[in-house]
Amino acid sequence: MKHKILFVCLGNICRSPAAEAIMRSLSVKEGRIGIEIDSAGTYAGHTGELPDPRMRRAAAARGIEMTHRARQIREEDFELFDRIVVMDDSNYERVSRLAPDRVALGKVYRFVGFCTHHPQWSYVPDPYYEGREGFELVLDILEDGCRGLLAELGTRE
Ligand code: 4NP
Repeated sequence: MKHKILFVCLGNICRSPAAEAIMRSLSVKEGRIGIEIDSAGTYAGHTGELPDPRMRRAAAARGIEMTHRARQIREEDFELFDRIVVMDDSNYERVSRLAPDRVALGKVYRFVGFCTHHPQWSYVPDPYYEGREGFELVLDILEDGCRGLLAELGTRE
């Protein structure tokens, strides 16, 4: 079974493209080529942009390249993906409102639900107005959750 995962945040220039890049890197390392991964934002204002340079730098220091171009989530994504994984409560609300039916609504997951080492976080914090530590914290949370998500997908193949 091919898994299709869409990560979603607000701007699609920090958290969700980083999650996408980390998930891709992990799946390649583990030889899991049957996973399709993309990301999107609930806000269209950064459409077409590369990820935030601060996030690209922080990810590059961990050996992760980010080349995604920002796009807004659309209703069609509920047909194209089998899991839509959101970063925070605001993303959850907006994405849920876009879901055309109950089946689509059942595809929406909170990213932190896949984390095992960050129990104190009920959402992935927005690093946009933070310093360097904010980006490092987000990458730590994202690496944790991507490992958890990959492990969960593994049990269903
Ligand atoms: P992201 O971060 O949702 O993780 O991509 C943000 C990016 C842009 C803005 C806010 C958060 N913004 O206000 O433009």
